[in-house]
Amino acid sequence: MEAMLRAGGAVALVFSVFVHLSLLSRSSPLSSQDLRIVDAERRIDLTSHIVNVFLTLKVENTGTSPASEILLAFPPTQADNLALLKAATSVGKRKKKSYESLSVNPTEQPEAPNGTKYFSISLLKPLSTGETVTLEVFYILTHSLEPFPVEISQSEAQLVYYRDSAIILSPYHIKQQKTYIKLPSSRVESFTRVEPTSHANAELKYGPYEDRPSYSFSPIIVHFQNNNPFAVVEELVREVEISHWGSLQITEHYRLVHAGARHKGVFSRLDYQSRPSFSASSFRHLLARLPPRVHSVYYRDEIGNISTSHLRADFQKSELEIEPRYPLFGGWKATFVIGYGLPLQDFLFESPDGRRYLNFSFGCPLTGTVVDKLTIKVVLPEGSKEPHSVVPFPVEQRVETSYSYLDVVGRTVVVLEKENVVPEHNSPFQVYYTFNPIFMLAEPLMLASVFFLFFMACVAYLHVDLSLRK
Ligand SMILES: *[C@@H]1O[C@H](CO)[C@@H](O)[C@H](O)[C@H]1NC(C)=O
Ligand SMILES: *[C@@H]1O[C@H](CO)[C@@H](O)[C@H](O)[C@H]1NC(C)=O
Repeated sequence: MEAMLRAGGAVALVFSVFVHLSLLSRSSPLSSQDLRIVDAERRIDLTSHIVNVFLTLKVENTGTSPASEILLAFPPTQADNLALLKAATSVGKRKKKSYESLSVNPTEQPEAPNGTKYFSISLLKPLSTGETVTLEVFYILTHSLEPFPVEISQSEAQLVYYRDSAIILSPYHIKQQKTYIKLPSSRVESFTRVEPTSHANAELKYGPYEDRPSYSFSPIIVHFQNNNPFAVVEELVREVEISHWGSLQITEHYRLVHAGARHKGVFSRLDYQSRPSFSASSFRHLLARLPPRVHSVYYRDEIGNISTSHLRADFQKSELEIEPRYPLFGGWKATFVIGYGLPLQDFLFESPDGRRYLNFSFGCPLTGTVVDKLTIKVVLPEGSKEPHSVVPFPVEQRVETSYSYLDVVGRTVVVLEKENVVPEHNSPFQVYYTFNPIFMLAEPLMLASVFFLFFMACVAYLHVDLSLRK
């Protein structure tokens, strides 16, 4: 009996080795056997409601052929909330060290375990056998802090959960790794321990962990205080209208929500005003960073103009501080419009090939906000043709036609749409177009002809009138 059991055990062992081997051979297209991470350090910054992660990877080629791509792996939930992902490598030695950015693209892998999502980093030059390269990866996650409790009263602090893995998810073996998590304060309710784990002040440290095989995963939950205003713009529509008569008119429609723990109970304005520190997670002011030389600024909501806004402007930037009609608590929304004018010559240029182009900032002017859905509509002057936009990251694009008063052929509108926009997306984009200056005369000519016809009509009428009296 015992012998039979032992034999059975041996068969099971052989079987499991066989399964293991077949798994290994099947995963070889990932080329994970050829690369290995010698050292990895991850810094997760949870101090605001937007999660910033800095990852340093030292990768070695242990295979026999040169490698030109390195894979990054993300659990599906993180991949869904990934707003930005950048990679760079350092070139040059010590003092002359500089960083060169590398292209990162989503990629598919056969048999991705548990729905893992991949991105591939293209190296500047292939990594030959035995060589190592150091990569700096930066990524941003939005909507990754989950308020718990989900409802709090006016005077309670906001607590949130952050979920991740203590071990970095990777298709490669990681020889040595550490993770640091930076928190907004030292107030931590609880955190998962994966020894060695330590907590000092506002920082948690996981690791060092040695020799973790590919796809190692060890879920952790950190429950901590985060009283940041979770300012989320559910929808922002920015209209940028170019008039060749000298100005750029911007109209921005916001639908803002406090995406933190929902407010429960009654709101006491008295408590709010007498003890502002008591309502720590609510927010009252918003700051919009606008370009310099801004003019005719307004701020209104459904009810009308709101006068509680302050504009500070110098030659480098303008800051508009706006105050909604009521402070925003978790779950509360505010809908408003900001409008302003800008001098055209600061944003409209002529390219060497004779086309004109608008060079304007993408993203949302409100600081520290996430925009779930951003639409930018660039309204070109009447008579503009062949619009072409250049945006430094993937966006949805389409062209529409709009009509305003006095328009004859309508205006071309370039519509750019992007989801999950963070402050790092505030980089310049361009819209090129061709324009025939004769169209600048169209409106005045039309006005003149309307007046002329009106005048002729009057003359005719008077003439008829006179002739009748006779
Ligand atoms: C709101 O303010 C703008 C700019 O100051 C002004 O042009 C507009 O007439 C005002 N609207 C109302 C309803 O007061
Ligand atoms: C657009 O403007 C930015 C500064 O706001 C400048 O750095 C950049 O070179 C400009 N791009 C083009 C194509 O003119």
